[in-house]
Amino acid sequence: MASTKGALDASKYDTDKAAHTHYLRNYEEYFRPLLERDVRLLELGVLKGGSLLLWRDYFERGLIVGLDLNPLEIDDPTGRIRFYQGGQQDTALLDRLARECAPEGFDVIIDDCSHVGDLARVSFWHLFEHHLKPGGLYVIEDWGTGYWDFWPDGVRYRRRRPRVTHSPARHRLSRAATRLYNGPLGRLPLAGRLLSASKRALQRGLYATHDYGMVGFIKELIDELGAADITHPQFGNAPPRASRFREMRLSQSHIFITKA
Ligand SMILES: C[S@@+](CC[C@H](N)C(=O)[O-])C[C@H]1O[C@@H](n2cnc3c(N)ncnc32)[C@H](O)[C@@H]1O
Repeated sequence: MASTKGALDASKYDTDKAAHTHYLRNYEEYFRPLLERDVRLLELGVLKGGSLLLWRDYFERGLIVGLDLNPLEIDDPTGRIRFYQGGQQDTALLDRLARECAPEGFDVIIDDCSHVGDLARVSFWHLFEHHLKPGGLYVIEDWGTGYWDFWPDGVRYRRRRPRVTHSPARHRLSRAATRLYNGPLGRLPLAGRLLSASKRALQRGLYATHDYGMVGFIKELIDELGAADITHPQFGNAPPRASRFREMRLSQSHIFITKA
């Protein structure tokens, strides 16, 4: 067994996680507090099963569940690894494996699977809503594929200037529209909508963001983190609600989301 208590050493396992030292550091930081627990962990995308063995040995009391499009034979005398064959976007299969392996929800879900944005989005929202415990962790690896031309939904990053840049005149106009919006005029429904639309037009094109593949999907998740502002009772879209995320931590190609 390559893991000593709390330290995650992937070097003796057949997994590409061993090559990403910051992935391992992140996992160690988030997983160490769970070490003694009866963790239920699901990994989407397992290739030859090396990461399943790594998680099994790290969480000595854990039940480790893997899913992959391709079949897998794994030698596991402990009986603590389960494998399901199928697509990450197959929500009926996700329901079945959760019912059979984690009826009270998973503690940890890792997506190291297709790295295709719209597939990752299907499994994310389904598993996050229905099969991740409150306080549970959802980890997504390799979101940087959205910058790769050779990836099915990735697109090479193009350095663009924002369509418009800072101008003092636009800044003054936007401030004036905001003052009107915050005054009695802004409380009249039609005037309020017009002022809001003019602010939107004035600000449009100031930022050049890359919205392709996994990168676009991850940026969508930032809006979920902003749910309390988006739905604020005075200046948002009702009904008010808090974000379903307690925390979201991004590092290069690796994201950890903690469920509220
Ligand atoms: C990067 S590998 C997984 C590596 C593994 N987690 C590890 O750490 O060793 C990605 C895996 O995802 C699987 N995969 C790709 N698209 C998939 C999909 N839509 N549904 C399920 N598995 C998929 C591939 O068959 C491949 O085995």
